[in-house]
Amino acid sequence: MTKFDLVVKGGTIATASDIFKADIGILDGKIVQIGEQLDGGAQTIDASGKYVLPGGIDSHVHISQPSGDGIVMADDFESGTRSALFGGNTTIMPFCLQEKDRPMREALNAYHELAEGNCYTDVSFHLIVSDPTDSLFGQELPALAADGYSSFKVFMTYEGLRLNDAEILKTLDVARSTGATVMVHCENEDAIRFLIARHEAEGDVAPRAHASTRPVAVEREATHRALTLAEIVDVPVVIVHVSNGEAMEEIARARSRGIKVVGETCPQYLMLTADDLDGMDWEGAKFVCSPPPRDKAAQEECWRGIETGIFDLFSSDHCPFRYDDERGKRSPKGLESFRHIPNGIPGVETRLPILFSEGVMKGRIDLPRFVALSATNHAKTYGLYPEKGTISIGADADIAIWDPTIKRTIRHADLHDGADYSPYEGIEITGWPTTVILGGRLMVRDGALVGKKGDGTYRSARAKSTKTI
Ligand code: URP
Ligand code: ZN
Ligand code: ZN
Repeated sequence: MTKFDLVVKGGTIATASDIFKADIGILDGKIVQIGEQLDGGAQTIDASGKYVLPGGIDSHVHISQPSGDGIVMADDFESGTRSALFGGNTTIMPFCLQEKDRPMREALNAYHELAEGNCYTDVSFHLIVSDPTDSLFGQELPALAADGYSSFKVFMTYEGLRLNDAEILKTLDVARSTGATVMVHCENEDAIRFLIARHEAEGDVAPRAHASTRPVAVEREATHRALTLAEIVDVPVVIVHVSNGEAMEEIARARSRGIKVVGETCPQYLMLTADDLDGMDWEGAKFVCSPPPRDKAAQEECWRGIETGIFDLFSSDHCPFRYDDERGKRSPKGLESFRHIPNGIPGVETRLPILFSEGVMKGRIDLPRFVALSATNHAKTYGLYPEKGTISIGADADIAIWDPTIKRTIRHADLHDGADYSPYEGIEITGWPTTVILGGRLMVRDGALVGKKGDGTYRSARAKSTKTI
């Protein structure tokens, strides 16, 4: 008798708290049974010798984001979610950017249109607050939070995007009253501009100067300020893409004062250094992102944060631009000065293999911590839990089956994004997700795409904030 649409049999399941051997019975897109010797599946997947993990959730992804000045992002929803899927993800959270003088709702409608029917993973959106008007704070954001758009990103850097302290306080206050979550990009824009002017005056315009003009001090100061503003408003906050130990210390100190802080880091801060921005023929532009990669000591500090719990989230900050392209890293203005090189690097497909290989296989973290950092904590932070981010009865059947014996070298040619390079080219990886299931539907089977575009849908979040981690 057929009891299940799909049974995943014989694998080792890991959640953020446990590791156990069991079968999973899936019906109507949900996990309905976890137990031994489950039979009666219309379809069965043999997962013996493999790890059966919650599908990854990448809560920091940029796709089809307007980038200005003739610059175009390398990924749309089709290529971005396809790439995410092959990297073991079943949900990604891109950013909807409000345009100046336009309602946020309008940007959101346009973003939904871009996503609709084009996704290979589920998606849920964050809102970037860039036009901080009274009507945004008084009406739009509260209404949007109530509709399930309950995470806002604010920038302390980038001209045209940065908010001042008063505007950040107002955003945090809306979050406090609605239960939404605020993500803060912490870099001091005035200090960066001062340093850019100094470097340009000296004719130092190559990509490496991007790192020199955004030193640790500008991130540390802004992190301290963001946490202080959150303390004043009395609301939890997410500090995104943390790159070094001094910013981590600010997080630890804030926690010791009782502030609820979620810390996020990304693969670039574990695997790259500022020396990568030194390449010939402007190749360093491939690694230009903000905050910039630091040095080996900062990498070690970030690993410590992964191991000890300073970081709750490991996200890609996938923000892809093609390198050999005048709409990307080698735009005419970008070739004039590092200041105009579009910020961001691709990484949605390599995020989890890097953490698995460098973290789990090298013994730095165990599987439950991997699951927490890659899925569960993202779902909890952004109101998608318990439907997403775990393997339990009633959860969406979003599952990635990992083969820990696979050895692969990262080659962009094997990846599925729309960029023309990977910053992680040549890195040796042990372990890769071979089969990915989204809402009970097989999407990738033994490394081959079997799902189709449009199988992924929009998932609204609950305004639940950071309380559950
Ligand atoms: O350089 C980066 N990180 N680009 C993406 C935008 C952001 O700040 O997250
Ligand atoms: Zn940012
Ligand atoms: Zn980002």
